[in-house]
Amino acid sequence: MCGIMGYIGDREASGILVGGLRRLEYRGYDSAGLATLVNGQIDIRRTVGKLDNLSKLLLEKPLAGSIGIGHTRWATHGKPSEENAHPHRAGRVVVIHNGIIENYLELRSELQGLGRTFSSETDTEVISQLIDEHLNQGMNLEAATRAAIARLQGSFAIVVLCEDDTTRLYCAKTATPIVIGLGEGENFIASDVPALLDHTRRVLFLEDGELAEVTRDAVRVTTFDGTLVTREPRQITWDPITAQKGGFKHFLAKEINEQPQAMIDTMLGRIRQEEGDVSLPELAALDLDWNRFSRIYITACGTAWHAGLVGKFILEELTRIPVEVDYASELRYRRPIMGPDTLLIAISQSGETADTLAAVEEARSHGASVLSICNAVEASIPRRANAVLYTHAGPEISVASTKAFTTQLTALYLLAIHAGRQLGRLDEQRGRALVHDLVNLPSLVQETLGRSKQIEKIAKKYGHSRDFLYLGRGINYPIALEGALKLKELSYIHAEGYPAGEMKHGPIALIDEQLPVVVLLPGDAMYPKTLSNLKEVEARGGRIIAITDAPTADLEEIAWEVITVPKTNHLLTPILLTIPLQLLAYDIAIYRGTDVDQPRNLAKSVTVE
Ligand code: G6P
Repeated sequence: MCGIMGYIGDREASGILVGGLRRLEYRGYDSAGLATLVNGQIDIRRTVGKLDNLSKLLLEKPLAGSIGIGHTRWATHGKPSEENAHPHRAGRVVVIHNGIIENYLELRSELQGLGRTFSSETDTEVISQLIDEHLNQGMNLEAATRAAIARLQGSFAIVVLCEDDTTRLYCAKTATPIVIGLGEGENFIASDVPALLDHTRRVLFLEDGELAEVTRDAVRVTTFDGTLVTREPRQITWDPITAQKGGFKHFLAKEINEQPQAMIDTMLGRIRQEEGDVSLPELAALDLDWNRFSRIYITACGTAWHAGLVGKFILEELTRIPVEVDYASELRYRRPIMGPDTLLIAISQSGETADTLAAVEEARSHGASVLSICNAVEASIPRRANAVLYTHAGPEISVASTKAFTTQLTALYLLAIHAGRQLGRLDEQRGRALVHDLVNLPSLVQETLGRSKQIEKIAKKYGHSRDFLYLGRGINYPIALEGALKLKELSYIHAEGYPAGEMKHGPIALIDEQLPVVVLLPGDAMYPKTLSNLKEVEARGGRIIAITDAPTADLEEIAWEVITVPKTNHLLTPILLTIPLQLLAYDIAIYRGTDVDQPRNLAKSVTVE
């Protein structure tokens, strides 16, 4: 996730670009940069870190010009540094980019073979180099941009500025967003609506596979193959605050709804569907011979720890290596039995959680290898790990974790499939089926998000309750814990997650007519067992709220509410069953009027013990 911004008009571009980037800084702030065009010459300013650093530099070294592009970066390929900051220049062209070019290594070596030299480690630079290469072959800017795009695999939103043409910008996109703001004698390009609202409310959303030529007075949209597209502009009626939240009332709602895209971003460039495999070149640094590991530890805190508990099921199933899961705050103090045959997987959204970092140090001191699953690029935990698997979920702003969790699970699936295949314990046929189901999962998550109206009603009906019980079994027991945690964090209602089969050993004493019991009930081999646990709840008057992909008549008879989710592979059910629990916690928080994005007493990143 990065923020991109373009301007063409009569006013000075740099102030407008920085103003727009400020509204896009939520998309990343590892570095920032601007490029403008004056008298046929492109001039660039770039700085590491937040936009403020760039603003300071611009005070010392201003940029003139009324056509330009700007970028705020969330690092994916290449560390946050000035060289890796956008815009990226090659010859007469500069490019800004949001997304990931999957085949950049191949393109880079091809271009190097033509004698081109690269000045950054980014995937983006291949785009400017390709365009410049085509310009040198005599193409005009539009043809050169189209020819470059035709070579790109992956996701991108780009804006291109060239010294040859002072009257136009080009932008194009696949899976990442671009919106064009329409002014009077000026036009704007941005990743998101908030960046435009100081200037205009008339916008044109670019669709996947489209390229736009943007001049001061006009916008011409075509498909990548050149067919003209006519689209009516839309009028934005949101206020600026709602706009930052993508039209949602809270960041939490936005992040819950972003999950299908975030999961796609986690998988991007890693899926080998034909071979039933997953490619994770980033593990090369770990010199990862899976046969070396006789045990795996997973460590994390909070929601990430729940992802670890699910990870145990997936990894043990697909690799047959024993997995232990520990709270980081426990692991760091308990002299764990670890050695060079141990792999520690440290899961963290922020990459800064103090206990998780300390557990990593503890594992390293025992000679274990450390793999970090992390969202924030170049944070402390990934820096201390031997290898990193980034989730690429984009910044998570709401304190309660949602998209970070489902993308951590996605990363664990990728890892387990990869390891299972390497070890020869997962055959090609099953690998292919798993990969196929994983690739289909984002659209099933989207379908599950469609249950929001039903869940809103359920929230209003049960939102006054004092306690909630969440039940799950096997791979979905951790999801019961996560559901209970979301409710506690967001609505301050006491909630407990329990394994369904264990209920009779204690929690059953809590059940009365006041207690909602949320149960996760995938249609697997344990379905009849969990159903009989539910009969025990029903007999004591508990109000059953069932979340299932198998709504049988037996269940309908005893449950007060049944929320159905689509069917998927048993191993993948935790992701789908999580979605209604997130929505339920959100809606109950709204009903009770709590501070959804910043619940009391909590912090997003806990950097103290
Ligand atoms: C805090 C946050 C939780 C998060 C946990 C671990 O408690 O409020 O949402 O799950 O820290 O954070 P990490 O960044 O390591 O995933």
